[in-house]
Amino acid sequence: HDADTKNRASDDDDLTIVHGAAELVVGPDEGTGVTVVEGGAFAALDGRVVAVGPTDDVLADYPLADADTVVDATGKTVLPGFVDPHTHALFAGDRSDEFVAKLRGATYEEILAQGGGILRTVDAVREASDEELVANLTAHLDAMLEHGTTTVEVKTGYGLDTETELRMLDAIAVAGDDHPVDVVPTFMGAHAVPQGMDTDEYVDEVVTEQLPAVAEQGIAEFCDVFCERGVFDAEQSRRILDAGREYGLTPKIHADEFAAIGGTDVAAAVGAASADHLLHTGESGRETLVEVGVTPVMLPGTAFGLGADYADARAFLDAGHEVALATDFNPNCFARSMGFVATLASVGMRMTPQEAIRGITSAAANALGRTDGTGTLRPDSPADAVVLDVPTATHLSYRFDTNPVSTVLKSGVVVHA
Ligand code: NIG
Ligand code: FE
Repeated sequence: HDADTKNRASDDDDLTIVHGAAELVVGPDEGTGVTVVEGGAFAALDGRVVAVGPTDDVLADYPLADADTVVDATGKTVLPGFVDPHTHALFAGDRSDEFVAKLRGATYEEILAQGGGILRTVDAVREASDEELVANLTAHLDAMLEHGTTTVEVKTGYGLDTETELRMLDAIAVAGDDHPVDVVPTFMGAHAVPQGMDTDEYVDEVVTEQLPAVAEQGIAEFCDVFCERGVFDAEQSRRILDAGREYGLTPKIHADEFAAIGGTDVAAAVGAASADHLLHTGESGRETLVEVGVTPVMLPGTAFGLGADYADARAFLDAGHEVALATDFNPNCFARSMGFVATLASVGMRMTPQEAIRGITSAAANALGRTDGTGTLRPDSPADAVVLDVPTATHLSYRFDTNPVSTVLKSGVVVHA
């Protein structure tokens, strides 16, 4: 290519242009917020961003007349596609009765200890057919896409035996292959202890039977553990995550949701990509995480649904560290909208709308170890973007009534409008 053709699309290239945005979020700024271009546009060739900036500048290099796809975002806000880095979106059954029980005063831990909660969903998933599992997840992916999510992590953990854990991973792969949303599979055999089983005995099964089978199957990318009082202790969690690492699975951990029992130390020791929940994380746990660069993932929907106190996002942010956000979508937290999570992050944790946007885009991509520009709209980033029918980025947190998403692009292609 000579200089003359450098900035031009050849006939074979697929050129996408999104232009005229009142505000366009490019990516993280030097603090804990995001960089915004007013009157912004971006151009993408074959699914990757090639130019971003003021609309006039972008259109000078990439004329609208050459474009295969044009999105007029005049008066609207354009953000990188949302990345949801923590969900349990594959399940079966209905636990709305537990929601009512909790309103009457039952606690999450009591329900689980009595064989409800996760263990009830395990029964429903074991009984569900493969087709039913795929259909259930697909419907949820559709809802997520409509709300602007273009990449989502999905965990297993409602099988708790080798056969069903592998079936869940298969269903995650099948649903993801057929869907515009990128699906990132996580093995979470250590989500709960099967009823009537000793915890150490189950940890043995996860390490010696489930993990080798999961590695052989080759679908899972991450390994996660519910490190919690009454579930897996720090030592058991570490054993599972170390073993997962040996099989090539990057560790993640559920830490400090109900009690701080050392999950943050485990996260640091195993080099986890993220530590998630952190409702009870204090200063020392926080310092442990930031020292080794584990991304904190906060799940304000869970606190909201449980009526619990929110995680201390401000302590991380005020010390200059970004915070990632996720829905934690599961039968105990029926939330698929990252916009709603942004509102909860602002109202419940005092995150600015710009910090929340970073939390659901580039910080969330960091929680998934993505280094290809996912969660940003910079040259070379995947052209995953959300057009919101709102005048500024601030309105994403500010509004919490209707879905503001008007168009979603995945790899430069309009996948929802
Ligand atoms: O992250 N805390 C453990 N796992 C999920 C809840 C799963 C369930 O209740 O089904 C969570 O909140
Ligand atoms: Fe979770």
